[in-house]
Amino acid sequence: MQLLKTVAEARAWRSTRSRVALVPTMGNLHAGHLALVSAARGQADDVIVSIFVNPLQFGPNEDLANYPRTFEADIAALEHAGVTAVFAPGVDEMYSAGGRSATTVHVAGITEMLCGASRPGHFDGVATVVAKLFNMLTPDIALFGEKDYQQLAVIRQMAEDLALPVEVAGVPTVREDDGLAYSSRNGYLTPDERRRAVALSAAIDDVTTRLAAGQRDYRALEARGWAQLTDAGFDPDYFDIRDARLAPPTEQTPVFRVLAAGRLGRTRLIDNKGVAAPR
Ligand code: PAF
Repeated sequence: MQLLKTVAEARAWRSTRSRVALVPTMGNLHAGHLALVSAARGQADDVIVSIFVNPLQFGPNEDLANYPRTFEADIAALEHAGVTAVFAPGVDEMYSAGGRSATTVHVAGITEMLCGASRPGHFDGVATVVAKLFNMLTPDIALFGEKDYQQLAVIRQMAEDLALPVEVAGVPTVREDDGLAYSSRNGYLTPDERRRAVALSAAIDDVTTRLAAGQRDYRALEARGWAQLTDAGFDPDYFDIRDARLAPPTEQTPVFRVLAAGRLGRTRLIDNKGVAAPR
């Protein structure tokens, strides 16, 4: 496995490879990331994983400085997982202006709802760094977790709108035994919060079960999910039923997406699930 630190090294590596799959990450790898790597290995001979904690996607009051950094363990896990190369640039290599970029990518509409409403600029930061990674590494396919479903939708829209020559693929969320989706932010939870965190996936499950059974009072179902979060001690941000493209559902919606976010103590958690409407 090669460790590439500069764009020049990454481009030289890329020039010797044919089909390449990219898994972009911010490190602190867990089972969810390893599922992306495993899916990527099924798609290409060469899998490159990027590790870069992207300052552009953190708000002023967010956890950039304290974001968990576990580089040595990440490298060992990726070596074990059969990755061909790791691209781990420093901030100055990625952004010459000390963590800033005069040019950013803004995907209108889809970035203003859900997580975008409470994290202004977050998805511009994500879209910008992912566009840069695509330009630097020119992957044939890039894989993203469905856990960050809105992020996946933003990147898909960006790739389509800008005709980026890369296939954007989503990989199903990996969960702990009690249903909590793997996330680097789970490590911030106290033992008591960790026990209560299960309410997030449980509330989404409850609503998806009701949608699958034919219930259609979306506002009431959202209120029900919201109440389950507050009962568990969450400060909910949103609990929304959408269609697969994140538009409001209609009578004809074939597949729903139920998405929720909230704070448990100081930790913001998100989750979502898809469910087909009964025929
Ligand atoms: O999902 C993440 O870890 C990040 O948002 C990504 C896609 C690596 C961009 O920094």
